Amino acid sequence: MKAIILAGGSGTRLYPVTGAINKHFLPIYNKPMIYYPLSLVMLLSIKDILFIVNPEDLKNFQKLFKDGSHLGVNIKYKMQEEPRGLAEGLILAEDFIGNDNICYMLGDNIFFGHDLVKIMEEAKNDIEQNGGAYVFGYSIKDPERFGVVEFDEKGNVLSLEEKPKKTKSHYAIVGMYFYDNEAIKIAKNVKPSERGELEITSVNEEYLKKGKLKVKLLGRGFAWFDAGTHDSFLEAGEFVATVENKTGLMIGCIEEIAYKNGWIDKKQLLKLAQPLKKTEYGKYLIELAENSLVLGASNAI
Ligand code: DAU
Repeated sequence: MKAIILAGGSGTRLYPVTGAINKHFLPIYNKPMIYYPLSLVMLLSIKDILFIVNPEDLKNFQKLFKDGSHLGVNIKYKMQEEPRGLAEGLILAEDFIGNDNICYMLGDNIFFGHDLVKIMEEAKNDIEQNGGAYVFGYSIKDPERFGVVEFDEKGNVLSLEEKPKKTKSHYAIVGMYFYDNEAIKIAKNVKPSERGELEITSVNEEYLKKGKLKVKLLGRGFAWFDAGTHDSFLEAGEFVATVENKTGLMIGCIEEIAYKNGWIDKKQLLKLAQPLKKTEYGKYLIELAENSLVLGASNAI
């Protein structure tokens, strides 16, 4: 399976903050927003990763992640000329994906929770073995901001709607999707929605029509943030700060995950920590390299 991380878009809901900077570089507490989706993809042991980026931001993404080899991953970039919608990322990634299955992740989504990686790994394995599409629902107070999923009493999916005025449930579809290779063909047939975007919800609806969509609900033990508005951005940062300062363990630390996955060794980790050594982030990496037992071997998310 290969991963696509969507990191383009216009970030208009974060204006004026994003007037001169792409939102994915903004800090969620102590690291750029884009570290969080990348960390989840790495926790799923996916090494081939494509970032979809705006042309004007390409250089900065390359500055941040290079070719990924320092983290033991293989990172490529593809420019999206205009933010035409989430489904376009699948079309743009066609050559990169080849015949593989797809982990599709939104660059402004942040996840946290016990067994999150296990649940996502099950979805990943399900797609690898059986094909189709796998998405996740999460109970939310303001579902009208998201893709919304409607169920019957047996848990069967009845409908999916993108930002409906009147919602049929309080379950939002979160920004992590697993697809078989068909998704690219499906995305090519998606027509722009009323708001003029190629919606990822249209791709999911097509899988639903074919009876090939699985939806799993993430329960109360999970935290999910779409950090694309001022309030959710702030909430996400406060959440990460609270959990990290309480536990002494970082959320979304890509160097830690690379190290624990065995993709880089102690020497490489210390090299990555070197320029950061005056920060808590750098000290954390040094501590990890020198005394990994103290920091435990548990999930880095
Ligand atoms: O966060 C989950 C929600 O994400 C889902 O519930 C919705 O169904 C889905 O449409 C999406 O809604 P948003 O309105 O939150 O999407 P947003 O425009 O914020 O874009 C999500 C990410 O994709 C963000 O990191 C920017 C990037 N993006 C967006 C567009 C429109 C691109 O890379 N290219 C694009 O053309």
